[in-house]
Amino acid sequence: MSKALDGVRILDFTHVQSGPTCTQLLAWMGADVIKVERAGEGDITRGQLRDIPGVDSLYFTMLNHNKRSITLDTKTQKGKEVLETMVKACDVLVENFAPGALDRMGFTWERIQELNPRMVVASVKGFGPGPYEDCKVYENVAQCAGGAASTTGFDDGPPLVTGAQIGDSGTGLHLALGIVAALYQRNTTGRGQKVLAAMQDGVLNLCRVKLRDQQRLERTGVMEEYPQYPDGQFGDAVPRAGNASGGGQPGWILKCKGWETDPNAYIYFIMQAPVWGAICKVIGKEGWITDPEYAKPKARLPKLMAIFATIEEWTKTKTKFEAMDILNEFDIPCGPILSMKEIAHEPSLRATGTIVEVDHPTRGKYLSVGNPIKMSASYTEVTRSPLLGEHTEEVLAELGYSKDQVAVLRAEKVI
Ligand code: COA
Repeated sequence: MSKALDGVRILDFTHVQSGPTCTQLLAWMGADVIKVERAGEGDITRGQLRDIPGVDSLYFTMLNHNKRSITLDTKTQKGKEVLETMVKACDVLVENFAPGALDRMGFTWERIQELNPRMVVASVKGFGPGPYEDCKVYENVAQCAGGAASTTGFDDGPPLVTGAQIGDSGTGLHLALGIVAALYQRNTTGRGQKVLAAMQDGVLNLCRVKLRDQQRLERTGVMEEYPQYPDGQFGDAVPRAGNASGGGQPGWILKCKGWETDPNAYIYFIMQAPVWGAICKVIGKEGWITDPEYAKPKARLPKLMAIFATIEEWTKTKTKFEAMDILNEFDIPCGPILSMKEIAHEPSLRATGTIVEVDHPTRGKYLSVGNPIKMSASYTEVTRSPLLGEHTEEVLAELGYSKDQVAVLRAEKVI
C-alpha cells in the first residue's frame, strides 16, 4: 500500500521533542525523513533520562521512529557543502534550533531559496515576533506563557503544568499541518515558503476555551459552571477551575471504590442535561427529576459541587470500570481515570496500533505510541529509531558522493 507522503524528502534538523514529533508524524505518513545530527553525541535526548547505560533513551527512540540518521558537522566548510546538497535534494527543511541558529550557520531563508526555491522551511520557536522572540524555550515555559498554567490546578493552589506535552508535541502537530499545507500550496505556486509554529501560539490555540472565558468574565463578572460559583470570588482573570468541564456540560472527577489506596480509582463524570433523569435514577435520587430545585440545568448550577458530592456517594460503591458499564448503558458521558500502567496493557490500544511494541538492536523490545491519526489508504508501520549516523554512507551515496569522498569527510571528522 502506498503512503500519503511517499516521495516527500525531509531534511530533519530537529532535536529534543517539538520538532522530532513533527517529523516523526511526517515519517509515519510516508515521508523520507533524514535526521541530521552532530557526530559523537547526536540529538541530546539520545543520552537523556537513560534507563539502560549506553543505549539510546526511550525519550529519543519514542520521538524518532521511521527516520534515517546521518552525522554531519555543519559548522565546517565541507559540512556546509553537504548540507547545501541536501537542501537542493529535499522538499522540506524542519528545524527547532534556538532563534537565529540556522542563520548563523549560513542558511538564511534567502540562501535556502537561492539553493532550492521549492523548499518549505519549517520552524518551531518558543515565541513569535515580539518581546520574547529571541528566547530559548522548553515545554513548561510554553505552557506558562501560553495560558495553560494559569488556568490549570485548583483555586487555592499555585499554577500547574500538565503532563500532556502541549508545548512540545502540541506545537509539533501544528507544524506538521503547516508543512503539509505548504506542500499542497506548492503544487500550484511551484514555490516553497516559511512555516512558523511558535510554542506560545500553539499552547494558546489549545487553551482557546480559557480566552473565551476571559471575555465572558469581563462581560458578566461570573462564570456559573466554575467551582468558584456561587460562594467564591472571581477576580479579573480566568481562575483555575480544578476539574470543571471546559464546555457547556458540567463535569468533575469523582472517587470510585478503592480510592483510599489506588490513586487512580476515579471517574470523570459529566452531568449532561439530556440524561439528567437517567443520572437521578442510577444514583437513587428520582425525586430530583421533577423537583424544581434540580430539574433544570440553570437551577442546578449554584449547587453543582453538592450534587457531584451526592453522585460520588454512588460512584464510591463501584469500581471505575463497574461505574463505566452502568453509566454507559444510560448514555451518561463518563471516563475512567486510566493510569499509564493500565494504558500500556490495554489490548484495544494495541489492536489499533495506538500503542506498539518495537524491537531495537541495542535496547530490545519497548512500547511506544503509534500514529494517532488513522488513514484508510496510508497505513502506518512503526519502525525503530535509527542509531546515530546509521545511514550516513547510504544517504551520501544517494546524494552522489563517492566512497572516496565519504572517506575524506570521515577522516576530516565532517561526518
Ligand atoms: N553541526 C554543528 N553544529 C550544530 C549542528 C550540527 N549538526 N546542529 C546544531 N548545531 C549547533 C547550531 O549551529 C547552534 O550553534 P550556535 O548557537 O553556535 O549558532 C547550536 O547547535 C544550536 O543549539 P540550540 O538550539 O541553541 O540548542 P540548546 O541545547 O542550547 O537549546 C532549545 C535547546 C530547545 C532550548 C533551543 O533549541 C530552542 O529554544 N529551540 C526552539 C524552541 C523549541 O523547539 N523548544 C522545544 C524543544 S523540545
